[in-house]
Amino acid sequence: MNPTQVLLQDKFQQALAAAFGNEYGTVDPILVAASNPKFGDYQSNVSLPLAKKIGQQPRAIAAAIVEKLDVSDICESPEIAGPGFINLRLKTTYLEGQINAMQGDTRLGIPLTDTAQREIVDFSSPNIAKEMHVGHLRSTIIGDCIARILEFRGHDVLRLNHVGDWGTQFGMLITYLREVYPEALTTANALDIGDLVSFYKKAKQRFDGDTAFQETARQEVVRLQAGAEDTIHAWKLLCEQSRHEFQVIYDLLDIKVTERGESFYNPFLPAVIADLEVSGLLEENQGAKVVFLEGFTNREGEPLPVIIQKSDGGYNYATTDFAALRYRIQSDKAKRIIYVTDSGQANHFAGVFQVARRAGWIPEDVEIVHVPFGLVLGEDGKKFKTRSGDTVRLRDLLDEAVSRARADLETRLQEEGREENLEFVTNVAEVVGISAVKYADLSQNRTSDYKFSFDKMLSLKGNTAPYMLYAYVRTQGIARSGNIDFTQLGADAKIILQEEAEYTLAKHLLQLGEVIGAVEVELLPHRLCDYLYQLSDKFNKFYENCPVLKSSEPMRTSRLALCDVTARTLKLGLSLLGIGVLERM
Ligand code: ARG
Repeated sequence: MNPTQVLLQDKFQQALAAAFGNEYGTVDPILVAASNPKFGDYQSNVSLPLAKKIGQQPRAIAAAIVEKLDVSDICESPEIAGPGFINLRLKTTYLEGQINAMQGDTRLGIPLTDTAQREIVDFSSPNIAKEMHVGHLRSTIIGDCIARILEFRGHDVLRLNHVGDWGTQFGMLITYLREVYPEALTTANALDIGDLVSFYKKAKQRFDGDTAFQETARQEVVRLQAGAEDTIHAWKLLCEQSRHEFQVIYDLLDIKVTERGESFYNPFLPAVIADLEVSGLLEENQGAKVVFLEGFTNREGEPLPVIIQKSDGGYNYATTDFAALRYRIQSDKAKRIIYVTDSGQANHFAGVFQVARRAGWIPEDVEIVHVPFGLVLGEDGKKFKTRSGDTVRLRDLLDEAVSRARADLETRLQEEGREENLEFVTNVAEVVGISAVKYADLSQNRTSDYKFSFDKMLSLKGNTAPYMLYAYVRTQGIARSGNIDFTQLGADAKIILQEEAEYTLAKHLLQLGEVIGAVEVELLPHRLCDYLYQLSDKFNKFYENCPVLKSSEPMRTSRLALCDVTARTLKLGLSLLGIGVLERM
């Protein structure tokens, strides 16, 4: 609920108590946004259920409520419609007061949460020696956005990169490199990640077809786990190499995330087993230690196990997730843990969460959520690949976005006969290219698959980053041509709502808090994108219909102030998506 709804709810409950007795003072007045602006802004649907309870006609109930309802400082006189709806239209003076308050507040009316808590966002999380792929890109973009929103609301956010930096793949890789390229295991920067990935593929091939190799690789894993010096040194070099390459991507995307890879939780794995043993959940199954899940069955209808420890003593992906979960609750004091991965891991997390609950590891005041997302598809609707059928390297993808943005810009500059220096062109191309990739991802409901299209995401029209950036540029253009510094408008810049387009814009601006609140709870960034898209649209209508600089006072100042709130709302909203703005483009 927004502040207006809270206020109205209170007034309704007073009226309900006055009309029908105190026991009605806590009834939910069922206040919703009006379905059609013709009928006003809000509507109460309470008369219908109450009619049944009290045994009177709904319209009579509505009339009794309205008689006691005192909303004269907020709304025009309430109207009763249809079977007994109560329609409310906000007063202009009330709206003006609200939008003025928003303009005067550096946080645009969005309060810090009064229930700040430690929140962990587990996102990005690529794997060492493997390429970071588009799935990791989605996780990185969505996870960063969620973290930004929680941070803005004042939560204590821990951004964790659960890098896959441990496990049997290192046995394979180290064994293979000892044979073919031993320098890689002793000298820093002897490989770049491209090589590492191809070595990894070859190592895997050897492993799959050569039993002697398998044996050596296993021993190498044992040596790694036992902390053998040369193996640990080799492992560190390999991690360093990948980390380097991941950082290039994080820098391009302006992402901050703290690496705490799977290896961090090694010391805590035995306690997971011990605890599951004590709680009686652990069972032996074909030499492995497992917990059987409730409600999950395989194709034969048999219960599915989560493997906690393999028959060779090794641990699994899930085991590390148990240790991580416990550590995050006990040591990090997390009150909410958010895991951002593709939907393909939904069953993994459902299983992990179930076992953790049954083991009693999740206190009642801790919430654990999997935030799944769909696949990135090519424009043909199939898995996203390069033309030659290889997986797309993220670096190439981001570089291409920037170079296409640059080409578009250069064409536009030529068409408009504008001359800009190199610095301008480079900066605009980078911001537009990277924003376009981020926005294309965030503007889709994350649960569905989305088609990756450079042409669409870079278009100046539609629900795209360039369109949004352009709306912001427009606000700054007004300031520039009028020689106005928005920050100097000050508190006496009274906003007056006169034209339809001004009302519509102001009302939309006032919904910002509700939208951010919803994203904070539902963790669906596309709702914020929708809001900003509509905002740009409403601003453009205002811009077409209401002269700003050419108006005379007091409308000129009022409209400038409205431009200022719009600009700051766009800037804030985009920053929460991880997107910076441009003054000109
Ligand atoms: N490294 C994993 C992958 O690439 C993602 C890890 C997600 N986080 C977690 N706590 N399991 O699929």
